Amino acid sequence: MKGLKGKVAIITGSATSIGASVATAFIDIGAKVVIADIAEEAGARLAGQLGENAVFIRTDVRNDDDLKAAVNLAISEWGQIDFIVNTACTYLDNAMDSTREEFLEALNVNAAGGFMLVQFARPHLKATKGAVVNFGSISAKVAQPGRCLYPMTKGAIHQLTRNEALLLAEDGIRVNTVSPGWTWCAIMDEVSGGDRKKTDNVAAPFHMKGRVGDPQEIAEAVLFLCSDHASFITGTDLPVDGGYTALGPEQQTDALGNLAN
Ligand SMILES: NC(=O)c1ccc[n+]([C@@H]2O[C@H](COP(=O)([O-])OP(=O)(O)OC[C@H]3O[C@@H](n4cnc5c(N)ncnc54)[C@H](O)[C@@H]3O)[C@@H](O)[C@H]2O)c1
Repeated sequence: MKGLKGKVAIITGSATSIGASVATAFIDIGAKVVIADIAEEAGARLAGQLGENAVFIRTDVRNDDDLKAAVNLAISEWGQIDFIVNTACTYLDNAMDSTREEFLEALNVNAAGGFMLVQFARPHLKATKGAVVNFGSISAKVAQPGRCLYPMTKGAIHQLTRNEALLLAEDGIRVNTVSPGWTWCAIMDEVSGGDRKKTDNVAAPFHMKGRVGDPQEIAEAVLFLCSDHASFITGTDLPVDGGYTALGPEQQTDALGNLAN
């Protein structure tokens, strides 16, 4: 992909799962990454595995000083920032029993953290005519049982992307959202007891591809949105969801066929 080699990306939430795949994909294509995550052990381990073009900095996206430190680290190490990828998230959600503190915590981690990071990195992104990728979700646009806070924050991110795209266009900075479908990640590993086949089977009826996504498939879309190939794409959402969003309530069942039987 054009326009990525030698570039510098700060990726929040990149110590594990999808974020780690994004960091790995950037390294594989010849870019440099700042792994900005609250998970110290996993973050330091991944940076060690990825080599000299990766650095880890313990970053809590709820803390402005931490975010400024991540920006400063990118500049002191490599002198530029080309991309911000806001992957960090909390799945904290007690549906209708969520407290005000939980509501604000979910918004803080999932939406405010990425917003503040972009604000702090803005002069550097302006200098490189860089790009931002925010992480939305299929959960942003539908009601899901047992959930309220997480989908609400993801909905906020889609609108944040549109506003940031407009406000940063004058600086030559593009802003887009990636919306994964169900993707194999730490929480699925934990809930399914590491059973990928079972996870695919549960996901099959509502993903046209009949399975969950791999983190690498999400990372490819992030690279595309940061690359020169996406130079006229801003303010929009790229679903990487195996057909989840395109499926109607009938899912993959032949409802008309059932009527005829
Ligand atoms: N996995 C899926 O099925 C799926 C589907 C749709 C969207 N997404 C989105 O993709 C992104 C990655 O999801 P995932 O499943 O890999 O998540 P994950 O929970 O496996 O990883 C999230 C990362 O964020 C970090 N993090 C949490 N709180 C933080 C904080 N305060 N400061 C800094 N880092 C913090 C964690 O340490 C972790 O490394 C998220 O934005 C999520 O909403 C995931």
